[in-house]
Amino acid sequence: MSITNQSRENWGSRIGFILAAAGSAIGLGNIWKFPYIAGEHGGAAFIFIYLICIAVIGLPVLVAEVLIGRTGKKNPVGSFKKLSKSKIWSSVGAMGVIAGFLILSYYIVIAGWSLGYIVEAAKGTFYEFNQSNTSSAYFESLTQNTVWSIGFMILFLLLTMSFVYFGIQKGIERGSKIMMPVLLILLIISAIKGISLPGSEKGISFLLEPNWELVNGKSILVALGHAFFTLSLGMGAMMTYGSYLNKESNIFSSSLQIVFLDTLIALIAGVAIFTAVFATQQDPSAGPGLIFHTLPVVFTKMPGGYIFSILFFLLLSIAALTSAISLLEVVVSYFVDEKGWTRHSAVIVFGGVTFVIGIPSALSFNVLSDFHIFGLNFFDLADFLTSNLMLPLGGLLISIFVAWVWGFDKSLKELKLGAETLFDNYPIVITFWKIFVKYFAPILIFLVLLNSLGVL
Ligand code: PHE
Repeated sequence: MSITNQSRENWGSRIGFILAAAGSAIGLGNIWKFPYIAGEHGGAAFIFIYLICIAVIGLPVLVAEVLIGRTGKKNPVGSFKKLSKSKIWSSVGAMGVIAGFLILSYYIVIAGWSLGYIVEAAKGTFYEFNQSNTSSAYFESLTQNTVWSIGFMILFLLLTMSFVYFGIQKGIERGSKIMMPVLLILLIISAIKGISLPGSEKGISFLLEPNWELVNGKSILVALGHAFFTLSLGMGAMMTYGSYLNKESNIFSSSLQIVFLDTLIALIAGVAIFTAVFATQQDPSAGPGLIFHTLPVVFTKMPGGYIFSILFFLLLSIAALTSAISLLEVVVSYFVDEKGWTRHSAVIVFGGVTFVIGIPSALSFNVLSDFHIFGLNFFDLADFLTSNLMLPLGGLLISIFVAWVWGFDKSLKELKLGAETLFDNYPIVITFWKIFVKYFAPILIFLVLLNSLGVL
């Protein structure tokens, strides 16, 4: 039974919503994942494809999610239920709540490493490294240390819980308003530092000169999948944040700003990282280890590296924190709206549950490293299930729901609320949205999904 919650909170301001949603979008995906996948798939050529995916799929699905949330005024399960009046569609919301749990359970592992690396940076540990071999061996010794990895994971989870505990305005909005500007400033400082290093031009040309030889069919699909992950789409995080919006807010222009900020931060992170990597003659294609293996060595080789290493892992942790908050909020809002729990008990209970399911992911790097399901350890399995299956499937169903089930005309009427001037002045926006949400997004996402399943 759903419980009507008369006193459901709203965002205190438009900028509060934009910063919180951008905080959800900007995370490990932008700073840890984007630079290394761009490095592996041809630099500028990959970025070009990724930008097209963001515009053609990311933006319309983001608008669709926020719209479902604002109209349904509930968590993903409740909003789908309200708009569709059918159990089948509310299970799309339920899949989102489960995906939120799963992502959070491995996200807190990497975020915990990032917190731990602030401490390592401050201790000056990186100065003992003179080459990447020692750096990666050190990283492995830390991740194999259960107390270290689980300890920092708990610390990160407690930080996440503390923001969600205090609610939308006093917790999430206030936190985002402080953390997002700090993140942006730290990242800009890091990029300026990177550009100022002798030899940094090679890093810039790596990002600007397309290497089409490294691009193949797989790159297009990686770019599409990443578009989902980086914009927090397909699992109801943006829907939940949208549910705290009022009808006067312009969903279209807010979404545009969120997409712009997310893309900008990924590109600045690319500049900051690759200028420094090239200037210190390190390998740009180190893959997932780029941040934890290569960067510590980069820091030892650049002037002021000590302070920059601390700042960098601080900014990575902040980025991860604002994303983890949105993941936990999806789960909490479900139990508050649908089951009548108080926010405080939902945060405490599901923070605890997240910890329990996070343990196997953390242990995937030590005691459980040989334990495989479908050939993957827990960590990789949680990542694969969510990023490659659940998020694209969720995104596909969300676009089909808005365009075909709820219906394009009805959804457009809702979308116009708060955006009257924009749509009157630029009716072309409607045409674009219609083509993208009705045809482009569902068809392209379907192709990604087939590829993830190995059919394509
Ligand atoms: N967008 C976040 C990132 O880039 C990850 C995320 C995915 C957060 C889905 C919430 C929901 O790191």
